[in-house]
Amino acid sequence: MKVCIVGTGYVGLVSAACFAEMGNDVRCVDVNPEVVATLRAGKVHIYEPGLETLVQRNYADGRLTFTTNLAEGLAGAQFAFITVGTPSRDDGSCDLCFVEEVARQIGRHMQAPLIVVDKSTVPVGTADRVRSLIAEELASRGADIAFDVVSNPEFLKEGDAVSDFMKPDRVIVGTDSERTAEKLKELYAPFARSRDKLIVMSIRSAEMTKYAANCMLATKISFINEIAGICEKVGADVRDVRVGIGSDHRIGYHFIYPGVGYGGSCFPKDVKALIHTAHDADFKPELLEAVESVNARQKRSMAKRIAAYFEPQGGVAGKTLALWGLAFKANTDDMREAASLSVIEELTALGMRVRAYDPVAADNARRLLEGNDLVEIVGDQYAACEGAQALLVITEWNQFRNPDFDRVKASLTAPILFDGRNLYAPRNMAEAGFAYFCVGRKD
Ligand code: UGA
Repeated sequence: MKVCIVGTGYVGLVSAACFAEMGNDVRCVDVNPEVVATLRAGKVHIYEPGLETLVQRNYADGRLTFTTNLAEGLAGAQFAFITVGTPSRDDGSCDLCFVEEVARQIGRHMQAPLIVVDKSTVPVGTADRVRSLIAEELASRGADIAFDVVSNPEFLKEGDAVSDFMKPDRVIVGTDSERTAEKLKELYAPFARSRDKLIVMSIRSAEMTKYAANCMLATKISFINEIAGICEKVGADVRDVRVGIGSDHRIGYHFIYPGVGYGGSCFPKDVKALIHTAHDADFKPELLEAVESVNARQKRSMAKRIAAYFEPQGGVAGKTLALWGLAFKANTDDMREAASLSVIEELTALGMRVRAYDPVAADNARRLLEGNDLVEIVGDQYAACEGAQALLVITEWNQFRNPDFDRVKASLTAPILFDGRNLYAPRNMAEAGFAYFCVGRKD
């Protein structure tokens, strides 16, 4: 089948590469000529394990091509996927300017019947808006070409995006047309082999499903972080509690790991956007507002704990914190809404120096932290510890799971370890001679 993908961010590029891998003819369109040049040179501009190999292979075989020219991308295409960014506005609402511009451009350039697929995360009602923008453009050039608009939200996790696309839990297709649903089923057949995996529903329900899924996951995280906070006060250990509740299959073990709060490009933005949508619809989203405020508190919790620890020793001013990890989670270079940024902001505001290391996100972090003279980013996890007063682990990279603790101890001025991801066993840390502070356990 012939597919045009507009926007080569991580959703667009992963979708494109995976569709091409299944033998489809995929054309990617991006407005940024530098991105297109990079992709044509066989390089991938985002960090996503497994993606570069897939892109290179399909590009070499000619099933995957890149252009800045939408008309060229649309020529002969049966589907046009909209996979552009939908950033948050200051008021938390979703900014649709890129989606709307792509819709207008599609209306201007399409020459043959087309199924337009909204894959970007967009508020309920956006497909109707996309439909009317395309219709307006067609009308203004006197063209009468059939098209349909479908909602097909993505559920990819950064770091696992290729395998999530290849083996999805479900594929959601929002459409009121049986014919369009059949076409989408054909396109997704290699990924959702079991027919049950492809769920067809109304367009608005599909748009809402995306937000409901992310908000449910964010709720689970804020819930366990709230329980962790209570555990710290009452002398329970949230790790035991997690296993205890997770063994009930109605609850499950997944996605209830306490930590430093959720970050990334999706949960913070999507929770805010659904809160905004609810208010617009005259509905007070009490639970979602609590999910957000619990997360904001959690993101500050480690900085507060470190400041409180050093309070009796004259405060954190002039002291150095070694920081392992900067990305919002492991296996990504993404720094958006990363908890590390909150910690750095809070502690450097108090005069603490931060010497950080991240295996992949260092360059992105450097750009964001430019101008903060109290932050240094180094190229080695042990170098980060040299002469620092304490170590904080904030991203769960595998290489931090079993480090050389003797080396860490020898590098720090005192063996003090704050663990924002509960990577280590408290007993082992005590045996290794560390003062060890983790999440959801009384110090
Ligand atoms: C999330 C969803 O998991 C995807 O299904 C969705 O498609 C994607 O958003 C999106 O809307 O594009 P992602 O943002 O890549 O994916 O990251 P997650 O792995 O979900 O993690 C989000 C945050 O929650 C991270 O900061 C992570 O550290 C935190 N987290 C996750 C926890 O604190 N505890 C957990 O148990 C799980």
